[in-house]
Amino acid sequence: MYSEKVMDHFQNPRNVGELENASGMGTVGNAKCGDIMRMYLDIDENQVIRDVRFKTFGCGAAVATSSMATEMVKGKTVQEAMQITNQAVAEALDGLPPVKMHCSLLAEEAIHAALWDYATKNHITIEGLTKPRTDISEEEEEEEY
Ligand code: FES
Repeated sequence: MYSEKVMDHFQNPRNVGELENASGMGTVGNAKCGDIMRMYLDIDENQVIRDVRFKTFGCGAAVATSSMATEMVKGKTVQEAMQITNQAVAEALDGLPPVKMHCSLLAEEAIHAALWDYATKNHITIEGLTKPRTDISEEEEEEEY
C-alpha cells in the first residue's frame, strides 16, 4: 500500500522535535480525523529557513509527509517554501494512497501556520499566505462540553 520512501520516512522520521526560540510555530488539526501537527521554523535575517522540527499526533502518512516536507523546506526561502504543496510532498514520497492524501495536508498547513506566525511577529507579508484555517488553541477555547 505504501511506497518504500513512505515507509522509510515513517520509520525514521527526519527533524522530529521542537525548536527553542523558533521564529515561527504553527499547530494545525486535520478536520477529517482529528490528528494534530505542530511545526517549528528557524528563519534567518534573509528569510531563509535554517532549521525545522515537527511533532505530530497523527497517522503514519502524516508522519512520513511531515518528515519529507521538513527536508524540502530546509534551506529554502520563505517564498520558496510557499511553493511546496502537499502534492509535491506526496510525489517526492513516490505517491500516497488516495485515501491518505488528506493526511499530507497537515504538513502543508502546519508549515503555512508557522510561516504566518513568523510573518505576524515580524510584521511582514508573505505573498500567497493567508491566515491558517485551523487554529487549535482558538478551537479549544471555543469548544464547550
Ligand atoms: Fe489523520 Fe492521517 S489519518 S492525518
